[in-house]
Amino acid sequence: MALRVDNVPRGIACYTRRSTDTVHLGRILVDPQARGLGLGRSLVEHLVKHVTALSDVRRVTLNVYEHNNPAVNLYSALGFVVTETVVASSIDGWATLRMQLAV
Ligand SMILES: CC(C)(COP(=O)(O)OP(=O)(O)OC[C@H]1O[C@@H](n2cnc3c(N)ncnc32)[C@H](O)[C@@H]1OP(=O)(O)O)[C@@H](O)C(=O)NCCC(=O)NCCS
Repeated sequence: MALRVDNVPRGIACYTRRSTDTVHLGRILVDPQARGLGLGRSLVEHLVKHVTALSDVRRVTLNVYEHNNPAVNLYSALGFVVTETVVASSIDGWATLRMQLAV
């Protein structure tokens, strides 16, 4: 999904269907020059609305680095909850949160 403002691309987000009832979101990104204006919230809200309209979807999941405060705050504000914390030693021990929204 692409988000355009005055026909200028300002954000992208992708999804993939992981199973009959689960859609996974990824590559959620807003133009650095257009952050903090509500575009990320709008983008993820639209994407969630889009995927939950697909038949049988009951769960939306995503992964986010624990230290990525803007993203974690955004997803939490939209109702996503942490289901698991995973530490991958291959990338400096950064912790990844697995988050989920029941729909
Ligand atoms: C995460 C991202 C998509 C948010 O997009 P955005 O357009 O800046 O976010 P919004 O303006 O819609 O803000 C929505 C909420 O996100 C949170 N947020 C946004 N920027 C924040 C910041 N700098 N610090 C803390 N929380 C922040 C807040 O909860 C905010 O709600 P509020 O305005 O009511 O406080 C954007 O920062 C981004 O593209 N980051 C780089 C890519 C990335 O990390 N993507 C996520 C990968 S999982």
